[in-house]
Amino acid sequence: MSSQDNSEENLPQQQDDADGGVLATRDNPFANPGLPPHEHRVQDIDERAAKRSERVVAGLFTLSMLSTIGFIASFVAFPVDKIVYVFPIGRVSALNLSLGLTLGLALFCIGAGAIHWARTLMTDVEVPEERHDIEATPEVREEVLAGFQDGARESDLGRRKLVRNTLIGAMAMVPLTGLVLLRDLGPMPGTMLRHTKWAKGKMLINENTHEPLRPEDIAVGSLTFAMPEGLSEEDHDFNNQIAKAALMIVRLQPENIKDKRELDWSHEGIVAFSKICTHVGCPISLYEQQTHHVLCPCHQSTFDLTDGGRVIFGPAGHALPQLRITVNDKGYLEAMGDFAEPVGPAYWERG
Ligand code: FES
Repeated sequence: MSSQDNSEENLPQQQDDADGGVLATRDNPFANPGLPPHEHRVQDIDERAAKRSERVVAGLFTLSMLSTIGFIASFVAFPVDKIVYVFPIGRVSALNLSLGLTLGLALFCIGAGAIHWARTLMTDVEVPEERHDIEATPEVREEVLAGFQDGARESDLGRRKLVRNTLIGAMAMVPLTGLVLLRDLGPMPGTMLRHTKWAKGKMLINENTHEPLRPEDIAVGSLTFAMPEGLSEEDHDFNNQIAKAALMIVRLQPENIKDKRELDWSHEGIVAFSKICTHVGCPISLYEQQTHHVLCPCHQSTFDLTDGGRVIFGPAGHALPQLRITVNDKGYLEAMGDFAEPVGPAYWERG
């Protein structure tokens, strides 16, 4: 303690070093070494080197623009289901791969161009700034504004029009990538969602056994799930198709069916309805044997299968679409067409 006191006592009141730094003093025992002498870069003293750097920066911004065009072209050119093999990743979607590469390159080139511009062409004179109160005084604000103006002038934006224009082009084009991604919000209502894989003559295939269903396979009180003939889990778009075509089948006593159209569209009391809830599309999976109500587990919408799939409780806005069925000459249940109305959430399409 005494040796420290002694050393502090030995420090001068204040002393500046030769490079603008401040040596340790009794009041401020931490020395400020100051800034090292400024060294000019080759671009500062050689205009040809500066031009070379300018071309590199412009080249990077131009490459960014080309990558953005490549991104949009990939979006149009590659089908969603195109798969390619890429070592060492393996099988990947060609669309995702090309979108990722082109968008990544577009953003990287803007970043790399900006860094190269800052490191080689913008002024690199370091300016120390004293710490101050958080609240800026009007003088400080003016100073900041002047600093911005100095920065704008020193960045040479006005003089280096090639860099400025290519930067503006690159920055303006990158947001276009967001526009084309709108397609990934889902299929256009009224086209893809309106039709399913069901069609006249398609047999009802048991989702568990993958066997065609006969009327005698449907027991009273059971809930059977089916998919259209020809749809396979190996299909690339199986998940999309089954999400629209999923069917549930129950056997009712014909005299219990209240809705006349439902009766006409059934076969010996066997009725087939879309399994997709008309609220926001959860798969319905709970069947109440006594009441013939089905319940959606997501928000408890309840549908009456004896009354045309009518909603009797919950937030769903529409009855479940029914599939008209019959039996073919081999004794298997088959569809008589597609659903008469779109399946699933009903917020977009029903007039
Ligand atoms: S999704 Fe079925 S009730 Fe909400």
